[in-house]
Amino acid sequence: MRLRTIVMLTICVAMLVVPSTASALPSMPSSLFQTSAGCGCHTAFVDQWSVSMHAKALTDPIYLYELKLGEEATGGALGPFCNACHSPIGVMSGELTSLDHSKVSPGGMEGVTCDFCHQVSGTAGDVIGNTSTAVTGDGVKLGPIADPQPGPAHEATYSEFHRSAEFCGNCHNVNHPGNNMPLEATYTEWKNGPYAAEGVVCQDCHMTPGPGVIKPREGTAAAGGPVREHVPMMTFAGANVGLGDAARAEERLRSAATLDLRVPDIAEGGDVTIQTTITNSGAGHYLPTGLTDMRQMWLEVTATDADGTEILKERRDFGTVLKDAAGTYPVYLWDAVGVQSDDRIPPRESTSNEYSFPMAEGAVTVRAALYYRTCSEEVAKKAGVEIPTTTMAEVTKTVYSSPDEVGMTDKEFRASQDGTGGLLGLAITIVIFGFMAIAIVLMRVMMKKEA
Ligand code: HEC
Ligand code: HEC
Ligand code: HEC
Ligand code: HEC
Repeated sequence: MRLRTIVMLTICVAMLVVPSTASALPSMPSSLFQTSAGCGCHTAFVDQWSVSMHAKALTDPIYLYELKLGEEATGGALGPFCNACHSPIGVMSGELTSLDHSKVSPGGMEGVTCDFCHQVSGTAGDVIGNTSTAVTGDGVKLGPIADPQPGPAHEATYSEFHRSAEFCGNCHNVNHPGNNMPLEATYTEWKNGPYAAEGVVCQDCHMTPGPGVIKPREGTAAAGGPVREHVPMMTFAGANVGLGDAARAEERLRSAATLDLRVPDIAEGGDVTIQTTITNSGAGHYLPTGLTDMRQMWLEVTATDADGTEILKERRDFGTVLKDAAGTYPVYLWDAVGVQSDDRIPPRESTSNEYSFPMAEGAVTVRAALYYRTCSEEVAKKAGVEIPTTTMAEVTKTVYSSPDEVGMTDKEFRASQDGTGGLLGLAITIVIFGFMAIAIVLMRVMMKKEA
């Protein structure tokens, strides 16, 4: 208990001492930023964004629940750090302190809102992450269109930065404000992976209609605007089925991984060995990514006999477990000094497991399923929300106990058995060729005699 107090105090002091790493956001009044209500020419974008987690970043009950715990644990030192990403306008304007939303302007309440992102001009400082965002505050909207024709509503200028992963990385890399350890590293995972090398950025997967890279998407960026070759979407769909755009999040989760299950067709007894392989086939970063000490992704493997009795039940959890200075784990991210364990799947990589069970009398049904939740049922309950479990992938296969069960003849079964069929075939071939060779020799001898 005493050690815990010391650790906590050290962290609090460290946070106060190193405020520069906490947030690079400038100070600016909220009046420099419009609310989404002012974006009436872009109604499609407003509809897409308003169901996203960006729009809900400050009002998200899971966020507020965790922030409250963090504030209690650190004596209020955490608030400005956390809020910087979850409501940059609220923090820049000084209207948002800790959990008190009473002075926050409507723009600040909109979390990560349109006019914040569209007044971002680059990265401030050398390290990407912890809101390392350069903001103009001059009202000119920055975006990816080379020849913007905005009309009288506002000015607009071309920004190459909006097509970069660094734009997202400014917030999608979170380092501990006291000890700088990476807590969320989606940007770094992407940067070190195959997608960065191929030039596929976050926007290509998270700002397009469906999973994968769906480009170009012809359309207009504003009512009455010219038709453009590619128009992105402001969906920012990820994995939050419970609080975000459920349909889009489910679609993305189901596209993220492929699950392979190998079982023998028939086992007449003994131990049956089965193998599962999960491949991160669709995510541009680790699976899971982001807040991986809280996210839950797990593989469940079961084998059930003909009577419905479970003869195998295994679970493997993917994610990170954080530890504190005393080596205790799991701990909350503000207490963390290191990672106790890390079981996640890098982009395009696979991970396999073998399991075995004693064969039953009759056929056995083997099922492997990969599940995802944004947080545990316990956390959801405490935050007062319902968070569903999503099935990312599932495979079911049957192991038969005899050839009869499959309707195979005994010969077909023998042929299907490992090696046996091949060897038998080889033996028969050798015998046939042997007879043919002898026949040819005999015929020659007989023909010679006749001549
Ligand atoms: C998280 C930051 C972020 C938020 C929030 C956001 N945008 Fe964007 N927006 C971007 C980025 C990045 C692009 C460029 C994406 C690309 O080209 O792949 C973009 C593109 C655009 C474009 C140009 C479309 C085109 O044809 O190229 C418009 C207009 C736009 N956003 C308006 C809005 C509106 C309106 C909202 C709020 C309803 C909004 N944005 C919310 C980051 C954001
Ligand atoms: C100002 C900081 C900021 C910027 C810039 C930003 N994000 Fe986010 N993003 C957040 C925060 C905060 C959340 C989590 C909100 C929550 O869940 O409460 C989030 C959540 C997400 C999610 C998860 C949604 C879900 O349903 O699970 C995705 C996907 C995402 N952002 C993509 C992007 C992309 C792509 C970009 C760049 C175009 C970007 N973000 C730029 C702060 C930011
Ligand atoms: C090749 C497509 C692809 C690229 C590129 C990509 N993502 Fe994702 N992303 C996905 C898929 C699929 C998911 C859903 C599975 C998951 O949660 O990882 C996802 C999930 C997410 C989530 C939600 C994670 C969670 O569990 O809450 C965030 C946040 C996110 N991505 C941000 C980013 C950022 C930031 C970048 C760029 C640095 C990026 N993504 C690049 C495909 C991609
Ligand atoms: C540098 C930006 C940044 C900072 C600082 C930050 N976050 Fe976040 N937060 C994010 C992003 C990005 C996501 C989305 C990641 C994902 O989907 O896994 C997120 C997601 C979350 C979520 C998940 C919400 C949900 O609905 O599942 C919680 C909870 C959260 N943050 C709490 C905190 C707390 C508490 C702090 C302060 C200790 C904090 N965040 C500081 C960027 C930040």
